[in-house]
Amino acid sequence: MKPRIVILISGRGSNMAAILAAGLPLEVAAVISNLPEAGGLELADAQGIPTAVVDHRAYATRAAFDAALMAAIDRHDPQLVVLAGFMRIFTPEFVAHYRARLINIHPSLLPAFPGLHTHRQALAAGVRIHGCTVHFVTDELDHGPIVAQAAVPVLSGDTEDLLAARVLRCEHVLYPRALRWWAEGRLHQDDGRIAVEGKFPSSGTLMAPEEA
Ligand code: GAR
Repeated sequence: MKPRIVILISGRGSNMAAILAAGLPLEVAAVISNLPEAGGLELADAQGIPTAVVDHRAYATRAAFDAALMAAIDRHDPQLVVLAGFMRIFTPEFVAHYRARLINIHPSLLPAFPGLHTHRQALAAGVRIHGCTVHFVTDELDHGPIVAQAAVPVLSGDTEDLLAARVLRCEHVLYPRALRWWAEGRLHQDDGRIAVEGKFPSSGTLMAPEEA
């Protein structure tokens, strides 16, 4: 039987779409959003994936929202909960409930630039290389064992939007790849770090700026 995942989104769902399009050896049991207007819901629905909304605005406390979200997720009994642009901070109870079963993609090379506006943060810091990170979720915001990262150069003349688009293209490759490794049972946790089973040839060095 294929392992089952539930995907959580808050917005347009382009990472979710990349995961659905990748033909992964897993079953997407449901897509759940905290916002009824999230564009990704329609996309999932059009592909016959069950969708649900747990609107955080309907709950008085974070704990009440998290409890409702947990119930909506657990109805599908997933082995992994996949955050794909899900913009809510969880209670420690939620994180504990999905210990080692909660994975996220963040648009920076963690541990640099946690939180919001990561591309703005990268431009302000003047870094030459930026990117994205797939990691398991722990109590500490945008921390947790790293599964994979992808890097892109920051180019002179970059705006937040240009940089975001360059990173997003990487996200769409990196996240499905990391989930494939998970589905194939190739991710192992060792001393708080993730080892990926397999042979990975070095693909060289990314230098930025790189002379033409
Ligand atoms: C993505 O860039 C994702 O990395 C980011 O939100 C965007 C969602 O886009 N996630 C976070 O910032 C989480 N802290 P999408 O809805 O098109 O996948």
